[in-house]
Amino acid sequence: MEALTPLIDGGIFAYLNYLVPAKRKEILDILVNGLKRMEYRGYDSAGVGFEGTNTKNGSHELKTIKQKGKVARLQEEIDQTTDLDFEKEYETHIGIAHTRWATHGEPSPTNSHPQRSDTTNEFLVVHNGIITNYKDLKSFLMSKGMEFESETDTEVIVKLVKHISDKHKNSTMSFRELVELTVQQLEGAFSLVFMSSKFPGECVCTRRGSPLVIGVKSKAKLSTDHIPILYSKDHRGFMNPSLHHTDSTTEFHPIGNKEVEYFFASDASAIIEHTNQVIFLEDDDVAAVQNGCLTIHRIKRTLDESTTREVTTIKMEIQQIMKGSYSSFMQKEIFEQPESVVNTMRGRVNFETNQVVLGGIKDFMTEIRRCRRLLFIACGTSYHSAVATRQLMEELTELPVVVELASDFLDRQTPVFRDDVCFFISQSGETADTLMALRYCKQRGALIVGITNTVGSSICRESHCGVHINAGPEIGVASTKAYTSQFISLVMFALVMCEDRISMQNRRKEIIQGLKNLPEQIKNVLKTDEHVHTLAQELYQQKSLLVMGRGYNYATCLEGALKIKELTYMHSEGILAGELKHGPLALVDRAMPVMMVVTRDKVYPKCMNALQQVKARHGNPIVLGNVDDTDTQQQANKYIGVPSTIDCLQGILTIIPMQLLSMHIAQLRGCDVDCPRNLAKSVTVE
Ligand code: AGP
Repeated sequence: MEALTPLIDGGIFAYLNYLVPAKRKEILDILVNGLKRMEYRGYDSAGVGFEGTNTKNGSHELKTIKQKGKVARLQEEIDQTTDLDFEKEYETHIGIAHTRWATHGEPSPTNSHPQRSDTTNEFLVVHNGIITNYKDLKSFLMSKGMEFESETDTEVIVKLVKHISDKHKNSTMSFRELVELTVQQLEGAFSLVFMSSKFPGECVCTRRGSPLVIGVKSKAKLSTDHIPILYSKDHRGFMNPSLHHTDSTTEFHPIGNKEVEYFFASDASAIIEHTNQVIFLEDDDVAAVQNGCLTIHRIKRTLDESTTREVTTIKMEIQQIMKGSYSSFMQKEIFEQPESVVNTMRGRVNFETNQVVLGGIKDFMTEIRRCRRLLFIACGTSYHSAVATRQLMEELTELPVVVELASDFLDRQTPVFRDDVCFFISQSGETADTLMALRYCKQRGALIVGITNTVGSSICRESHCGVHINAGPEIGVASTKAYTSQFISLVMFALVMCEDRISMQNRRKEIIQGLKNLPEQIKNVLKTDEHVHTLAQELYQQKSLLVMGRGYNYATCLEGALKIKELTYMHSEGILAGELKHGPLALVDRAMPVMMVVTRDKVYPKCMNALQQVKARHGNPIVLGNVDDTDTQQQANKYIGVPSTIDCLQGILTIIPMQLLSMHIAQLRGCDVDCPRNLAKSVTVE
């Protein structure tokens, strides 16, 4: 199957209450709050759609409120709406909401979602993703007399539903069947939630290449924890009327009383404060709620797929997604690292027996050990975690190790073989470039290992096996704790690979002891926060910052520079110290801010050489080194000291002052630390 372009460009949230009375104000608050939980996914405009009554003729109609800017602007717009009775109570009601990161059409109320089928709002839809054939569909619909008001691809979807509905106006077609016929015409990646004035209190949602989760809340016990899939056509392609009919055995609902609430969201962080019972939809699932009952349909069946969807209990706690006393999610996540690294190693590293077990890949270790080479493929910070562990991976596996940026790997159509093992590292598990690279490698027969932080994510589900980094939800767009957890996860894999190598036992023990000491050492590094803040005050008005290092600290330079760029909008560059004399040294003069990462490892003499080269050109480098290294400290203009640990883990400690520095400079420059301009958390467009 041609690789889809999986895309996320914002956040979807919808709320359906069935026989659970709720005032319009409460419903709108739930919708807007759901968007706030996902604002990090994309945030240049937002909107809500909800049920109401036409004030002129009393008929049932749908209403929308949409606004450019962040979710707070939408809330203001709602508060200023005068023709709404916020006290009106609805026993049954569906509301949908969306926060957008524009891909087609500039941020504006008209281009915001929900998009509508016509001026009466007969159908509304919210959409994440990109419809790649929207131009053809738009031409077709315009040839049928439809007029478009937005520049979005999304509008095509909802107008297509109406077109199909009008064509079948005398049929008894259900809302879900209308949506099924519609999505069969769509190409690209999408997650969609529909509502309609023709089907009050009903909701239909579907996904293809973009995540969608359903939360269920009810006082009563739920009818099952495995919802059967209903096939609109069986695998021979015939419409199977018996499976069309839903009854108590196939419908998912509370047992006894029917009061129930459903929540639909792009990720579980928007649902967890309401319920921990969730269903992760798979690509091409079509889920419908009618009379409070949920059914899940598929249009066709492939033989090896699961025939049920599990109701899982997610363990995320609400405080995990709240900022607490911190000034930003990013600050919270930086300071969580002593705990997050423990969670990453929990149940996997036994510090007494020096055993490391990775349950998610242990059944594949025989195949992995026989492989010809290891490929690590990722984007951004996740790519840097692979750079950080490449040397150790080569040392402990004695295999060729290839580290690739997913986008370039795909551009080159890099050769991949059946005896390759390909790792895909991704915090969100939804990054388009990384997911497409996964599918490219999978098609070529390689073994696919996912290293992700998001349960139920596409990369997680499409890998043959994998490791969950267990860093906890990372809300800040700039990745921090996920980086250190990815780093440690890859170190653990390297340790598993050499567990039976006698010659490497001493090295393994040293590394495992180093891992054991990390939480305390990270706490000590975090105590430099005030000192780093002082340095930030000297740097925040500069135009550029060069970050130099080599060996195990080269990744710190790349990742540190990325943090500076994406948070402060200041230019920054990670430079391999060994490359200085091949060009970058020309940048150095007394005015150019330079940071050098110099810790006591094998390349220390070469780093000191580079330091001298920089000082000889009147550079005044800030040195990031070992706290007990007084010799080096005397050579530096300014110094940040981190505890000494084994060489291959030093990068875990040296990155933390860079995380803090970028955060402080960003704050001093008045930048939004959690939502940097132009960026989104779960990236991508290709
Ligand atoms: C990191 O601070 C950035 N937000 C970005 O580079 C990110 O690491 C990259 O987009 C990859 O995201 P992923 O880990 O979710 O795949």
